[in-house]
Amino acid sequence: MTVYALENSNGIAAGIARGIGDKLVQLEYKIFPDGESYVRVPQKPEGVAILVASLYPNPDKRIFELLMSVEAIKALSNEPLIAVVPYMAYARQDKRFLEGEPISIRVILKSLETLGLDGLVVVDIHKPSVLSEYTSIPSRNVFIDRLIAEYFHPKMRNSVVLAPDVGALERAKRVAAHLDAEYDYLVKERDRVTGEVKAMPKNLTVEERTVLIVDDIISTGGTMALAARTVLSQGAEKVYAACTHAVMVRGALDLLISSGISEVAATDTVPSPVSKISVVPAAVEELRSLLEELL
Ligand code: R5P
Repeated sequence: MTVYALENSNGIAAGIARGIGDKLVQLEYKIFPDGESYVRVPQKPEGVAILVASLYPNPDKRIFELLMSVEAIKALSNEPLIAVVPYMAYARQDKRFLEGEPISIRVILKSLETLGLDGLVVVDIHKPSVLSEYTSIPSRNVFIDRLIAEYFHPKMRNSVVLAPDVGALERAKRVAAHLDAEYDYLVKERDRVTGEVKAMPKNLTVEERTVLIVDDIISTGGTMALAARTVLSQGAEKVYAACTHAVMVRGALDLLISSGISEVAATDTVPSPVSKISVVPAAVEELRSLLEELL
């Protein structure tokens, strides 16, 4: 097999190459004076090709580099090509929230399929069902719940795992199962007069408990900060925040710390100061399982 890395895979491409015992080839890339991207696959794949491409920062550029690389690798070999996309950009636009909007994640998946991609591994994609709804590419979604639980396990006493909204409840439930802890989600309400957003845990009390809030993405930090302020105002002893993809736009970490969160930890799908948990072992496991299905 040959593992190809697109620009800045945060060490994940190298980790995957080490994990499956194959060589790593860095793709060549540059930007033309007019702003267009150029990529080149400098050598033909030996056997199955694995292309590692995390789509942040600069998601639009990265997506196009990924598509061009898939086209180029498919032209070099008839062997299967698997893309490992640790952070799948545009995954949150998974339906038409307003008439006239695109389903952006569908555009990406359909494009990969049209170009002949044979397999896809993603990490904790926002809504896993898009992988079967919008493409027939054989795929795996890497779950990170055990990794998050193992990281926070030593800090958890009388703990509750909390999802910041009902959409993230399944993830909180899975993390809680690894920690043998209770789990719940926050219900948000907007005051019709003041416009202030308030939140309450649906079922559990957090008083004098350690709370671990888990989400898939921290972007501006607004969702986590509101959740943290809420549980601290309700008497929580300590609040930790965990996410899979630390997109962390400018100022997000400051917002989280100033909201009283004792520690933020994320996986390394996106490079950031809090990306402390490696997804490589879990990604290699899913990659092996997908290879077994394809070969
Ligand atoms: C939303 O659907 C996601 O699961 C996250 O809750 C959201 O992306 C977090 O964004 P922010 O950090 O900007 O509040």
